[in-house]
Amino acid sequence: MLHKVFRSFCCCLLLILPLRHVSAQQVTWSQHIAPIIHRNCTPCHRHGEAAPFSLVTYDEVAKRANFIKRVTESHYMPPWKPDPHYVTFANERRLSDEEIKLLGDWAEHGMPKGEGEVKEVPQAFVEGTLFHRPPDLVVKMNTAYTLKGDNVERFIVYKLPFEIPDSLAVEAIEFTSNNRKVIHHANYEINDVPDADFNNTADYVDNTESHLDYYQQYVQYRKKMKYFGGWIPGSSYESYPEDIGWVMPKRGVVLLTVHYAPVGKDEEVISGVQFFFRKKPVKRLIRATSYGSGGVGEKEIEPFFYIPANVEKSFKMNVKLTETQSILYVWPHMHLLGQTFKAYAVTPEKDTIRLISIPQWDFNWQEIYWFPKMVKIPKGTILTIEGKYDNTVNNAANPSFPPQLVYGAMRTKDEMMTMIMLSLPYEKGDEEKDVKRP
Ligand code: HEC
Repeated sequence: MLHKVFRSFCCCLLLILPLRHVSAQQVTWSQHIAPIIHRNCTPCHRHGEAAPFSLVTYDEVAKRANFIKRVTESHYMPPWKPDPHYVTFANERRLSDEEIKLLGDWAEHGMPKGEGEVKEVPQAFVEGTLFHRPPDLVVKMNTAYTLKGDNVERFIVYKLPFEIPDSLAVEAIEFTSNNRKVIHHANYEINDVPDADFNNTADYVDNTESHLDYYQQYVQYRKKMKYFGGWIPGSSYESYPEDIGWVMPKRGVVLLTVHYAPVGKDEEVISGVQFFFRKKPVKRLIRATSYGSGGVGEKEIEPFFYIPANVEKSFKMNVKLTETQSILYVWPHMHLLGQTFKAYAVTPEKDTIRLISIPQWDFNWQEIYWFPKMVKIPKGTILTIEGKYDNTVNNAANPSFPPQLVYGAMRTKDEMMTMIMLSLPYEKGDEEKDVKRP
């Protein structure tokens, strides 16, 4: 009996030790460091992903221990832009202070390997998909696109037509590419196109300078958009709970926009979108709605949306929402002059629902922020978006030197203040529903 009590007491100690009382010398790869790295860094730092080197094995991590200490202490890695004290998201990527200290202590004490086995390659990382089964449909480019190695940043829109025997309920959707390290971010829209001809337009349009070509070529396909999604390094699939989702049309086209990093040698890229269908019909349709520039409430942006050269300027948009709805994610969007972004909603009872705050906007780390549970927004709520922009030479990201007058439009040199929300009409109990982790 006594023996038993003593044993369980010991177990407790063992559980608590690594977290609380571990002295700096005792921090080891196998016990402390590997789990932190594999959970928080390896999703991007592995073969085929976007980060410049792999962080999987002891050797790969140990030789960069000091570098890792620096980038984690400064919160540069893992990249996470929203203010965690404003809203916490389901896909949050942040290290605790304790984890940061463990990484630092380990670097300072010679990176001990420790005892016990570490599974070097975490099991969840299957090549090809992060979902738990292979895709039912892959819509991708037929031939590889050659990205020129001339160090120019590019935006290319690809036309990817598809046709299936019948429309199907979508359970999950995932961006796919053979060469993610050259991709900064991607977004895609799925359009229902029952009859337009796919053969009389180009396979892709270079959207880097002008948005006009793209409109002229593909406007005929964009009459019935079914879904809109996106990818940045490290993000995985999107999936929807229970009978919630959207319906993949029988015939249509995926318009895939890829933002390429500047590269020094030619690269071949094949990208696309893969779909996972489910048998159960979709009962509750989700829809992505764009607010602000180019979307609902554009005319409510105050003051009028333009930013003269050499000024910092702030804007605000208020729109009244006319239906009680549940939201699954928010996806803020600005271009290179963006400095801060904030969105919240004030209900008719004057309760404030916080949506997102990004205190230091970074064009290269745009992403979709998923709420852990659905968020109810009552009818009559005022949605507010606030954005601040810096069009001076102090903004290192300013694409024009000297700074130029900038209007609201979609080229990277123009500006936007936009937020996309994924929502559906509210039903009782939605606030309790987990939004499946993307
Ligand atoms: C969302 C994807 C992602 C995650 C998660 C991530 N990284 Fe990175 N990391 C990148 C990318 C992309 C780069 C290269 C671009 C850059 O340096 O900004 C990078 C660069 C780095 C660099 C080089 C920085 C420099 O100045 O050159 C280090 C060191 C690093 N990461 C360490 C880590 C560590 C440690 C973690 C986990 C605690 C981590 N990263 C998590 C994507 C990620």
